[in-house]
This record gives sequence, structure tokens and C-alpha cells, in this order.
Amino acid sequence: MRSHQAVLPHDVLRGRVAVVTGSSRGLGFAMARELGLHGAAVVLAARSDDAVAAAVERLRADGIAASGRCCDTADLADVEALRDEAISRGTLDIWINNAGTSGVYGPTASTPVDDFTRVVRTNILGTFHGARVALPVFLAQGHGDLVNLYGQGDRGPVALQNAYASSKRWVHQFTETLRLETKGTGVRVHGMNPGLVETDLLGRVASQPGFEHRLGALQVVVALWGQSAGQAARPIVGLVTSDAAEFRFLTKRRLVTRGLRNILGGRLRRTNRMPLQVTVVHPDPQP
Ligand SMILES: NC(=O)c1ccc[n+]([C@@H]2O[C@H](COP(=O)([O-])OP(=O)(O)OC[C@H]3O[C@@H](n4cnc5c(N)ncnc54)[C@H](OP(=O)(O)O)[C@@H]3O)[C@@H](O)[C@H]2O)c1
Repeated sequence: MRSHQAVLPHDVLRGRVAVVTGSSRGLGFAMARELGLHGAAVVLAARSDDAVAAAVERLRADGIAASGRCCDTADLADVEALRDEAISRGTLDIWINNAGTSGVYGPTASTPVDDFTRVVRTNILGTFHGARVALPVFLAQGHGDLVNLYGQGDRGPVALQNAYASSKRWVHQFTETLRLETKGTGVRVHGMNPGLVETDLLGRVASQPGFEHRLGALQVVVALWGQSAGQAARPIVGLVTSDAAEFRFLTKRRLVTRGLRNILGGRLRRTNRMPLQVTVVHPDPQP
């Protein structure tokens, strides 16, 4: 068994085709780039045609064999078309269920219903759809790597972020269940928790009124333990070339060592903090 943290040859993924959902920006784009730089042909997907096209161009400029299509992972037909796009490139070896979104910060009792539904549709239904279309291909060919993105809450409750945190808990259990169901088939199912990544997901957030002031603490947490999308993406190649069940960036050791290093490096200073844009969203009237 190879460790997912081993140093890998630059062409270790040559001949493989990888789909990364939610890859027009953020961590998904960075993981697609990392897989492409290691030889994979990558298929990008997100809900904006223009953003996908721009992301594909950026990867091609780096010499990566990239293509893409507009796809809402909450829509099964879109996800099936994405699978077909990958297969038209010759094969389908890697599927990263990365598309994810956060909800409006605040209590569940007053959470906007549409917003809760939006999070469930992308984080839960979208992950199911990805698995539902990729696994039959993987099982028929006797190999393939499926990666599901975990996140805050995947191991326990998080107050005021119930939609996001509960959805990630669901992703965790869904992933473990898929691993049981695919045991002995040659198909590998991995979970990945990248820790805190400086993307729009953390930097452009929404809050219920009266809770926005609490989000200031997020900048401090990110200053202590955050990393760029490029840094956070690096373990993906090791993960899809190993039997590792999961990768989790924030171990106890990293909490201490990175926290200390970032304090000493001045990342806590206000001028060095990640910009934070908070939009206040008013809850629905009482049902
Ligand atoms: N950032 C973090 O600190 C962090 C920590 C732990 C886990 N994660 C997980 O990592 C994943 C990526 O997060 P990120 O920080 O890179 O987020 P991000 O910067 O907000 O990017 C999200 C990407 O997903 C796409 N997307 C959103 N909803 C989609 C849908 N329904 N169908 C298809 N594409 C969709 C977005 O493009 P469009 O909006 O144009 O579709 C965008 O390309 C998520 O699963 C997240 O939960 C992130």
C-alpha cells in the first residue's frame, strides 16, 4: 500500500481521465490543475459556461489536456452528460465530487428554507449523483477512484452552520458506506477534508441578521490554519494513487505547528488577513 503523501512522478496519471465537479475556481480548479500537471486529462464542471471555459483555457495554457462543460450537480441529467463527456475522452478513471456550497450562518429555527434546500441539493444530492454515474463505470472496468469532499462538521455538530455541517456529516457516512459496498471490486472510495482553504466559500459568506459580527473570528481562524487552494490541492494525487481511505489536513500536530508558525509569521495582523465579505440575509417569515 502506497502512502498518499509519497513523492510521486510527474506523469503518474498519464493515460487517466479525471472529472472534477465544481472546478471553475477554488479548490476544485486547483485539484484539476494538480491532477493535470501529473498527466491526467481533466474534465471541468460548474454552473457557469463562461467560468468553465475560462478555467479550461487557464489549464490548457499550462499544457494540461483539459475540457469542460456546464453542469449543475443537483441535476442528474447534467451529471450523466458530464460522465459521457469524460468517456468521450477515452476512459473514466477518477471522479472528484468537489462541488459544494455553504449556507446562511445562523440558527436553524430561522434559516431561510430555500437556502437550506440549496445546500442539500448541491452537497448531498450532487455527491450522490456523482457516485451514481461514476461507480457503474468503475465497477464494470474493475478500477476507478472516487473522492468525496468532507468539510467542517463531518465528524460532529457545528452550531449555526447546520445545513453545511450536517451535509458534510452525511457525505462522510455516505463515503464510508460506498467503501463497504465496493470492497474487493478494485474500486477505491476516498474522503478528503482539506482543512481551511482561502476560497470564496470562506471569504464570501452570508449571515442571518444579528450573527454577522461572529464571523469576524473566521478571519483569525483562517490566519492561523488556512492555506491557499494550490497548497490544499496537493494531496489529491497521492490520494487517488493510494488505498488511503481519507486525507485530513488538520491533524492535532498541524493545529499546533501551523498555528505557531503563522503567529510568528505575522499572519494574525489585520492587514494580512483574508478579505471577508458578509452579506446579511433576512430569514423567511414564520411558517
Ligand atoms: N474552502 C474551505 O475552507 C473548505 C474546507 C473544507 C471543505 N471544503 C469543500 O471543498 C469543496 C470546494 O470548496 P471551495 O472552497 O473551493 O468552494 P468555492 O470557492 O465556493 O467553489 C465552489 C465551486 O463549485 C461550483 N459549484 C457550486 N455549486 C455547484 C453545483 N450545484 N454544481 C456544479 N458546480 C457547483 C462553483 O461554481 P458555480 O457557482 O459557477 O457553479 C465553484 O466552481 C466543497 O465541497 C467544500 O465544502 C472547502
